[in-house]
Amino acid sequence: MIEKNKENDNKFEVFPFIKGDTIDLVVNNSKWLDLRTKWENDPEVRRYARNTWPRTVEELKKWTEPAPRGQIKEFINLVIYHKQDKRPIGTIGFGHIDWVNRNANIAAMIGEPEYWGKGIIGEASKLVIDYGFNELNFHKIYAGIYKPNERSLRAAEKLGFQKEGVLKEEQYVDGQYHDMHKFALFKRDWIKLNENE
Ligand SMILES: CC(C)(COP(=O)(O)OP(=O)(O)OC[C@H]1O[C@@H](n2cnc3c(N)ncnc32)[C@H](O)[C@@H]1OP(=O)(O)O)[C@@H](O)C(=O)NCCC(=O)NCCS
Repeated sequence: MIEKNKENDNKFEVFPFIKGDTIDLVVNNSKWLDLRTKWENDPEVRRYARNTWPRTVEELKKWTEPAPRGQIKEFINLVIYHKQDKRPIGTIGFGHIDWVNRNANIAAMIGEPEYWGKGIIGEASKLVIDYGFNELNFHKIYAGIYKPNERSLRAAEKLGFQKEGVLKEEQYVDGQYHDMHKFALFKRDWIKLNENE
């Protein structure tokens, strides 16, 4: 799907990096910097994403810059673009990429809460996990989720992530310490889970 964003004066093309049904995963665009900064700082969104520090546009700008020459990329971030509504609604990608041991942390954020509860994270995660295992050749993808984030816990379990352990009282949120649940998914299990699709 290639289309012009007509609502924006600065017309630019939105093109998929990974194609989905309801959403595409598209490459970050500097024109979305303000919007992304809003998501990162939105009280409702950042509570679950555990963004405790304010994040500036300048900081986010650095995320869209390529790794300096000679340095390896440690994170990959894509924008979740709603095809029917023609708008970017969140981000998904990998952080702490360990290219030697071939593992990475998966992180996602739907920055527009009106799109929560519609199963979008399941679709976006499947696309990015396929990319991680089949293109980036990851061996293991992991996630850390703290207990009150029931949506993320449920989504991880549905995708086939297995619990590896619980870090007791790891996360301080809203005046309380919460346990951090560590989940992981191995490439061999992902292939097995999806071999009939
Ligand atoms: C967490 C987040 C990515 C989930 O995305 P989403 O598209 O809203 O997730 P879904 O609608 O697919 O919900 C996931 C599952 O949780 C279930 N769920 C929703 N609310 C729930 C609750 N209170 N308790 C238990 N399960 C719940 C849903 O029913 C769904 O399961 P189902 O498919 O079996 O019905 C999104 O809400 C978000 O971006 N939140 C803010 C940032 C964040 O938390 N990032 C993740 C940090 S680990």
